[in-house]
Amino acid sequence: MMELLTAAVRAIGPGSWQGPLAELIADKGHQLIHVDGNARKRNALMAQLPEVRPTGWDIENGRITIGRAEELSKAQRQLLFETLMAFRPWRKGPFSIFGIDVDTEWRSDLKWERIAPHLAPLKGRRILDVGSSCGYYLMRMAAAEPHLALGLEPYPPLFCQYALLQRWLKLPRVHCLPVKLEELPPMDDYFDTIFHMGVLYHQRSPHDALKQLAALLRPGGELVLETLVLDGNEDLALCPRDRYAKMRNVFFLPTVPCLEAWLAKAGFTDVRCVDRTWTTIEEQHPTSWINTESLPDFLDPGDSGKTVEGYQAPLRAALIARRR
Ligand SMILES: C[S@@+](CC[C@H](N)C(=O)[O-])C[C@H]1O[C@@H](n2cnc3c(N)ncnc32)[C@H](O)[C@@H]1O
Repeated sequence: MMELLTAAVRAIGPGSWQGPLAELIADKGHQLIHVDGNARKRNALMAQLPEVRPTGWDIENGRITIGRAEELSKAQRQLLFETLMAFRPWRKGPFSIFGIDVDTEWRSDLKWERIAPHLAPLKGRRILDVGSSCGYYLMRMAAAEPHLALGLEPYPPLFCQYALLQRWLKLPRVHCLPVKLEELPPMDDYFDTIFHMGVLYHQRSPHDALKQLAALLRPGGELVLETLVLDGNEDLALCPRDRYAKMRNVFFLPTVPCLEAWLAKAGFTDVRCVDRTWTTIEEQHPTSWINTESLPDFLDPGDSGKTVEGYQAPLRAALIARRR
């Protein structure tokens, strides 16, 4: 675990951030290895797995495929299945791992297909993926040969999924830090592209988050912002009174014009809304690979256009903007 973190800091390279980053990583590594009960359990499970190097990996119809079934014995495959189950909830994917299909809650490939055609080429770029979860999108980015694809994933169970996948993939240009965006030390003008997808509604101060993203990007760099939005053309944002779609930590759902205004205020230009999509059961669905509820439980049983709280059902927009 610690090697993963130090390799990430090495890959980021020298700069004023090095000291604070090393300190932050030492603390996060300590938490993951010695303090957080969930992470300790997952580390122990990882250590029990056989040291098998897959013959390769691929992306087949949006599914990330690591190794093949015949590369493991029957007993090894059973152990792998049990370990993968112990690493639930598998939210973002899908994956096939040594022949075991991990049918994740989200078909993340659908979002990638909607966004990828609009991106500046990722080859040779320094990329940041905020809220990278198990690393599904980092792996999609890796296929484009970036200089660096760095994820930030503060939730230990999801960071451990990334660690598990990298154990087989060993992608040299892909790294991840178990930190929140707000915890990252200043790295002004460092990144060429930043993905900030499915995170803004969790942030209590969206303006501060967007300002921080602008500072992290070089002038002319690209921000890919994807978030839950409110349907409509007025400059408004919904602030859910309590929960939204049973989620506790949702602060603001702006309309697309409101989001465009936020981006302009935070230092972005050439703002384009490239996608608006209502979340469907095809994209987010219940599966045995999660141990929680999913979309059908979040919607009003009598009106699928509304959440159980009576708000508009989940609508997501993707915007691409350039740093001024
Ligand atoms: C809804 S998921 C989105 C995952 C992925 N980016 C996607 O678009 O499918 C939100 C992710 O952001 C992470 N997250 C939440 N707050 C964050 C923050 N302040 N900084 C970085 N990541 C955060 C969560 O742990 C979670 O993995």
